[in-house]
Amino acid sequence: MKPIGVVVSGSSPVNVPIQVYKGCENLVQEDSFVLIKDHEKNVEYFGVIRSLRMNDPLLIPHQRSSVIDNRELARHGKEVVFETSSIRVLGVLTPDGQLTPPRQPPTPRSEVYLIETPSDVNLKLETGLTLGKHKFSGIEVPLKPDALKYHIGVVGATGTGKSRLVVGLVNEVLSKTDWRAIVFDHSGLDYVSFFKSNVVNGDEVVLHPDSIFAYLKRELSVKDLAEDALSLAIYTYIALGGDVKNIQINIAQISEKLKNADLEDLTASTKWDLSSFTSIYTALLDKFNARESTIEKLSALLTLQKQFIESLNKKKITSREILGRAEKEKLVVVDLSNVRQEERRYVVASILARIWEFIDAERKFVNTLVVIDEAHNYACQQGCWPSNELIERTAREGRKWGLGLVLASQRIIDFSTDIRNNINTFFFSKLQTPGDLENLSGVLDLGGIEYDDIAILATREFYFAGLGNPLKYPVLIEVKEV
Ligand SMILES: Nc1ncnc2c1ncn2[C@@H]1O[C@H](COP(=O)(O)OP(=O)(O)O)[C@@H](O)[C@H]1O
Ligand SMILES: [Mg+2]
Repeated sequence: MKPIGVVVSGSSPVNVPIQVYKGCENLVQEDSFVLIKDHEKNVEYFGVIRSLRMNDPLLIPHQRSSVIDNRELARHGKEVVFETSSIRVLGVLTPDGQLTPPRQPPTPRSEVYLIETPSDVNLKLETGLTLGKHKFSGIEVPLKPDALKYHIGVVGATGTGKSRLVVGLVNEVLSKTDWRAIVFDHSGLDYVSFFKSNVVNGDEVVLHPDSIFAYLKRELSVKDLAEDALSLAIYTYIALGGDVKNIQINIAQISEKLKNADLEDLTASTKWDLSSFTSIYTALLDKFNARESTIEKLSALLTLQKQFIESLNKKKITSREILGRAEKEKLVVVDLSNVRQEERRYVVASILARIWEFIDAERKFVNTLVVIDEAHNYACQQGCWPSNELIERTAREGRKWGLGLVLASQRIIDFSTDIRNNINTFFFSKLQTPGDLENLSGVLDLGGIEYDDIAILATREFYFAGLGNPLKYPVLIEVKEV
């Protein structure tokens, strides 16, 4: 290992100011790993280079210097220039390669060594899911598998490599854990081609009656009585299998039928037809004493939903089947690209609702990772209903049942507060605006990483931070080739 500098006055157990040796300035980079060998204390500190600064004792920013009168002088005395850094200590290295919290400051005059390859240092991090290596040393920084259930956020501008990182994560989860994964591929371009034999067409996924209700409620903007009638109409229609030739709306009979049946199976076997559905809805509105004008207005609005209602005939894959496939094959990718944009949230909601139905009934661990890419479309505070509600529940309670989220998006502010506050591990790369980093700092200890640090990141370069990171401090990784 090359010695690159020396500890100077004022070190603390965690932050250690150093001066860089002459001629080593080109070796040292922000985020490099280093070892401080303190022979006085007989301790080795493992740390990361931060806040590199070049200084000139004769050119103080706000003090007048003679160089401005005589520019020739700028070419002389270059030997007085020096570089400093503040090493952030990540731990004291024990003889068996573990890191323990630093309790004492390194002694000034201790030498600092640059770690350039994994063999430079005897560091034995816990094994886990390997998504990439530290950019400069090549040391693998594995994600702790236990962190899956505490949720993972992947944030960065378009093209930074979020989706590829998640593909890598899914591969690791499948090969190294007993977890299953359900991936929602928003564009159909990010996951489908990697996992061809596990793909389900999103437009064939049966919508739970609650999702059909949620969708139509929104489209028809109904409330109060008309909303109640809509909910009842959907359940009645399903109970009758769409056969409304001689409607006898007998609520007791209908609820008996629904009680003993699987709602998704009923929905899948129902014949969906605009005029039949309209006749049930209007009959119920009438029964509820709705005004004639309301009934007319709603049946007119329903005609605009012809495409939606009749598309339900194509939906034959139930969420139960999807969970069954995930159980058997360990992975299901739901291709949402052929689902209309405004319907996609309902597909996500249907499947998540089914998972929770299972958990509520069985009280069992599900050990399932739910991946939602372009998550701002599903997890936002406003305009993401009903998927946001189920994602929120998963974010809050998933850890108790082994149900973890991976949410990838450009901006964390696009996740509802409840969701972002419950994500405990983050990968973040170049962001769109400084405000995006500020939002991250609200939910995560950034350890002094500034916008300038991330502005220079290239594709596949991410800071890895939070609970899942065994180093407990954001480190720069290069995601492996996927
Ligand atoms: N880990 C990786 N391995 C190989 N290529 C990558 C990797 N990460 C990113 N890329 C390249 O960058 C492009 C954008 O990556 P992608 O994951 O789609 O970014 P994002 O999801 O952030 O928009 C990919 O099409 C690929 O060419
Ligand atoms: Mg992407």
